[in-house]
Amino acid sequence: MQVVDTVHAMQRMSDGLRANGKTVGLVPTMGFLHEGHLSLVAQSCEDNDTTVVSIFINPTQFGPSEDYEQYPRDFERDCSLLQSHAVDVVFNPGVDEMYPSGYATYVEATGVLTEGLCGASRPGHFRGVTTVVTKLLNIVKPHRVYFGRKDAQQLAVIRRMAADLNLDVEIIPMPIVRESDGLAMSSRNRYLSSEERKAALVLHRSLQYAEAQIAAGERDATKLRSEIEARIEAEPLARVDYVEIVHQQTLETLRSLHGPVMIALAVFIGRTRLIDNLQLTV
Ligand code: PAJ
Repeated sequence: MQVVDTVHAMQRMSDGLRANGKTVGLVPTMGFLHEGHLSLVAQSCEDNDTTVVSIFINPTQFGPSEDYEQYPRDFERDCSLLQSHAVDVVFNPGVDEMYPSGYATYVEATGVLTEGLCGASRPGHFRGVTTVVTKLLNIVKPHRVYFGRKDAQQLAVIRRMAADLNLDVEIIPMPIVRESDGLAMSSRNRYLSSEERKAALVLHRSLQYAEAQIAAGERDATKLRSEIEARIEAEPLARVDYVEIVHQQTLETLRSLHGPVMIALAVFIGRTRLIDNLQLTV
């Protein structure tokens, strides 16, 4: 496994692979890898001749009061996990390599896709994501790029950006990987105390409740949304950031439960903000 830390070296390596007819898969991450990330890696290794995993904690997607400084890192552990998954290349640039002095260009998706849900509570977040993903695509030049459905809004925004900017890459969405008790895997789960870890189950449980209600015939999205919110608020350590019921692709708010539905949650458990979602066709 090769570790590449400059843009130039990564671009030349990708040019070489492409010239030799090899397919390249990219899995963009911010490191501190878990089974969720590794499921994307495994799929990429299956689909492509070469898999590149990028590990870059992207400062432009964190707000000023967010956890950029504290974001967990363990590069050595990440590398040994990737090595055991037979990954070919780890792209691990420094912040100055990605954003050298004088850096002034951003890629921004506008409108409903980035204004609601996490976009409302994290202004500028998606601008940072679309900017860094565009840069990673230009650097690694993959045939396929892998994203998890756990970050469903991120996936919707990137799909829109790829279509709007005619990016020549196939976007592969991957299912949410959960702990055995249902908590969606996240690098941020490590912030939780043992009491908070138990309380965090309220996210998945309230989505399971919603799924059961829909299966039982509930079609009133406004009513279901309030019920989910009440269930989360009943957990003393939880505070709702948002509960939204939206169309899976456009992210427009739904009043009735029909078609491709997404129920998306962001909940503070203590000081840790967790997200989860349920996607189903009604
Ligand atoms: P990060 O949070 O490290 O996640 C990297 C990829 O792993 C994302 O596509 C995310 O959706 C996926 N992922 C995380 N947890 C998952 C889970 N439990 N199940 C399935 N997939 C999961 O998302 C980012 O980094 C950044 O915004 C990035 C795209 C790298 C841009 O900086």
